[in-house]
Amino acid sequence: MAPVSTSGTVVILGTGGTIAGVAEDPTDNVGYVAGKLEIDQLLARLPAAHPPGVRLHAEQLAQIDSKDMGFGVWLDLARRIASCLADPAVRGIVVTHGTDTLEETAYFLHRVLKADKPVVLTCAMRPATAILSDGPQNLADALCVASTPGARGVLVACAGVLHGAAHVQKMHTCRLDAFGSGDAGPIGYVEEGRVRCVGPWPDLHPGLDLDRMPPADSWPRVEIMLNHAGADGRLALAMMGSGVAGMVVAGTGNGSLSTALESALGQCVNAGIRVLRVSRCALGPLLQSPRDRFDGASGLSAVKARIELMLDLMTGP
Ligand code: SIN
Repeated sequence: MAPVSTSGTVVILGTGGTIAGVAEDPTDNVGYVAGKLEIDQLLARLPAAHPPGVRLHAEQLAQIDSKDMGFGVWLDLARRIASCLADPAVRGIVVTHGTDTLEETAYFLHRVLKADKPVVLTCAMRPATAILSDGPQNLADALCVASTPGARGVLVACAGVLHGAAHVQKMHTCRLDAFGSGDAGPIGYVEEGRVRCVGPWPDLHPGLDLDRMPPADSWPRVEIMLNHAGADGRLALAMMGSGVAGMVVAGTGNGSLSTALESALGQCVNAGIRVLRVSRCALGPLLQSPRDRFDGASGLSAVKARIELMLDLMTGP
């Protein structure tokens, strides 16, 4: 078990979500408004010196329901975290976030930052006003992870489980333990303020030059579509000439596409639209074959492949 450090600052960036959500009725875990309480109010619910010996510095970076997450917040978040990573006084960073798009934000940060310190996203499935809210414990766990010597990478702490950004996915609509890491499994567990790793810390990406990223309102448009019974490709054809630069298609099984959809996507490629194929299955890799017509993103969900394609369109040749 890795001990919690006794020095350095942990920076906490609030972005909203259910963890900061408020309902009129404490028994209501559905009809609440996300993103109401300030990050200082969430921290005030924790014991005074938690984790022991660690300085906390909180900032409210956004205050939204994460269903409305957008590229502007992503860019602000990435730039602020990058400055924290570069600051020798900062030991780790915690981001409070809604659960609904948490895996997308985590993956984006994982791809654009060289997170050689822990960047821990955390959340809650019940609002702060619930009879038994899960937010304070998740936040306490995230602070422990962010203070743990040797911890690194973009991580997600929820319900005592620690996931890596590459594999984490929201799996359940309402269970407190809503996240899973599929075949990869979690990186570890947070137990009584300590991290018990069962896998390695994530591999680090080199990070991108965030100053050279285009403004958020000019990022390339990448849409997602599905193969399904009766998929006739008309949706794909309708995208041509609409300003869409890329399409992620979630195929059936090992990424298979109906004959009509494959043909329509072929026309999209001829029109200059990039197509990236994933599987719509919840688990398992995409096993590629030389006969495949479109590039595949193995092991990525459609929403993560979309980020990959957007970054490639922005930074590629
Ligand atoms: C949100 O994603 O902001 C609302 C839902 C949640 O946090 O569970």
